[in-house]
Amino acid sequence: SDPAHGTVQRLPFATISQQDLEFFKQLLPGRTITDPDLLESCNTDWIKSVKGSSEVLLRPQSTQEVSQILRYCNERRLAVNPQGGNTGLVGGSVPVFDEIILSTALMNRVLSFDHVSGILTCQAGCVLENLSNYLEERGFIMPLDLGSKGSCHIGGNVATNAGGLRLLRYGSLRNTVLGLEAVLADGKVLNCLVALRKDNTGYDLKQLFIGSEGTLGVITAISILCPHKPNAVNVAFLGCSSFQQLLETFQCCRGMLGEILSAFEFLDASSMKLLEKYLKLVNPITESPFYIVIETAGSNAAHDEEKLHSFLETAMSSSLVTDGTVATEESKIKALWAMRERIPEALRHDGYNYKYDISLPVEKIYQLVTDMREHLGDRAKNVIGYGHIGDGNVHLNVTSPTKDPALLAAIEPFVYEWTARFRGSISAEHGLGLKKKNYIHFSKPPEAVAIMGNIKSMLDPRGILNPYKTLPDCLR
Ligand code: FAD
Ligand code: MLT
Ligand code: ZN
Repeated sequence: SDPAHGTVQRLPFATISQQDLEFFKQLLPGRTITDPDLLESCNTDWIKSVKGSSEVLLRPQSTQEVSQILRYCNERRLAVNPQGGNTGLVGGSVPVFDEIILSTALMNRVLSFDHVSGILTCQAGCVLENLSNYLEERGFIMPLDLGSKGSCHIGGNVATNAGGLRLLRYGSLRNTVLGLEAVLADGKVLNCLVALRKDNTGYDLKQLFIGSEGTLGVITAISILCPHKPNAVNVAFLGCSSFQQLLETFQCCRGMLGEILSAFEFLDASSMKLLEKYLKLVNPITESPFYIVIETAGSNAAHDEEKLHSFLETAMSSSLVTDGTVATEESKIKALWAMRERIPEALRHDGYNYKYDISLPVEKIYQLVTDMREHLGDRAKNVIGYGHIGDGNVHLNVTSPTKDPALLAAIEPFVYEWTARFRGSISAEHGLGLKKKNYIHFSKPPEAVAIMGNIKSMLDPRGILNPYKTLPDCLR
C-alpha cells in the first residue's frame, strides 16, 4: 500500500476457504458475490485513490443475516469491511487487503414513519435520496443533504457522522439520530432503536456508533427526527471580491435572515474554473474571486422573499456582494446548487485528488488555502477551496496529474500542523478512515485516543471490523 499513508501490514486474519464460501452461499443464496467484475467497483473508492483486493462481497437483507455473518467471521477470525454507498472520501469504505465486504445495499426498507412526530425508522442501506423522496411525498424532509445523496446510504451517513449542506440549520446526526440498531463483532444485536425525543436512561451508547466508521459494529437500522418540508425555498448565488467580504456577508446574512437561513456555502474562483472546464457548467453571474450559495427555507413565501430581498439590497448597496442571482423555482434552484455540489465530481476529472476536510475558527479557513497555494507553488496542478462557511469547515483540495508521493510529503504534515496551530479539526466531517488515522493526535489528546483503543478492544476484541481504519497504528 501507499508508503506515504504508513506501510500497512496485513494483520494475521484468516483467509477465506472453500468451506467459508459454502457457509456464506448457504446463508445468502445468490447474494454471496465472487464475480471479479462486480468486486472491482466495491474494492475501489469514489476518488479512485485506494484499492483493496477482496474476493467476496456479501449482501445481507436483514439484521439476523448480518448477525450470522459476523458471528461466523468472528469465530473464524475473518476481517470484515462494512460498506454502504462507497462514497466515503478517506479510504475507509473499501478493504485494504482481502477483507470481506459486507454491503448494506439490500437492507433498504423503510420500517415506519410517524407523521405526528416526524420520526422515520429505516434499515441502514436506504439511499439518502430515496429517503428524501419518500419523506417529501409525506410533507417532510431529511435533516441532512449531501452531494452524494444519489448513492450514499443512511447507515454510511451515520457511520461517518456526515455533515453536509443543511447542518447549519438542522444540526448534526448526533442530534437528529434518535435511535440505532447495530450488530457487534461477535454477532450480538444491540437494539437501541428507540424513537423518543427524550431518553436519559444511562449512557447514550448510540453516540459511540455515530462516526465510528464501521470499526465498532455494523449499523443495521436507525431512527431519525425529520423536519417538516418548508413551503418556501429560495437560493441565492452571489459573488464577493474578497474572503473578508464573504465573512461580512455571512454575518449580515445571519442577522437579517435569522431562522430562515438553511445553508451558507462557498467556493473559490479555482473551483468555478474546474466546474466550467470539466462539467461545462455556466457561471450564472460575473466572475468573482469567491462565490456564495445561500438557501432559505421557511413556511411563508412572501415573508421569506421579503427578508431575502432586503438582505440582498443591503449586501449590494454596501458592496459586500458584487453580483448575484436568486432562484425560487425548482429547476433553477437545482442548477444553482450544482455549482456547489458538483465540485467533487469536477475535481475527479482534474487528476489525482489530495483531499482535506478541516474545521477552524471561520475567519481562518481561507488562509489555509492561500498558505497551501504559496507553500506548494507549481508543484501542484490546482489548489482549491470550498465548503461549509456556516460550520467553519473548509475543503482544501490539491490535484496533480497522477499520484505524487513527493507532493503528498509537501502537503502532509504541513496541513495538519497548520490546523493544530489554530486548534482546528483535521477531519471535520469525512472521518479518519485509512488516510488520516495516524494524524488523529493533531486533534485529540493521547488520553482520548487511549480510551478509543479501550472501547475498540471491548467491543471488537479480535479486531475484525474495518481493521487498519480510524484508530492509529500505534494502538496495535
Ligand atoms: P461508505 O462510503 O460506504 O462508508 C463510509 C464509512 O462508513 C466506511 O468506514 C464504512 O466502513 C462505514 N459504514 C458504511 N455503512 C456502514 C454501516 N451500515 N455500519 C457501520 N459502518 C458503515 N460527507 C460529508 O460529511 N458532507 C458532505 O457534504 C459530503 N458530500 C459528499 C459529496 C460527494 C460527491 C461525495 C462523493 C462524498 C461526500 N461526502 C460528504 C462523503 C460521503 O458521502 C459521506 O461520508 C457518506 O456519509 C458516506 O456514506 P456511504 O453510504 O457512501 O458510506
Ligand atoms: C462537500 O462538501 O462537497 C463534500 O464534503 C465533498 C468534498 O469535500 O469534496
Ligand atoms: Zn463537505
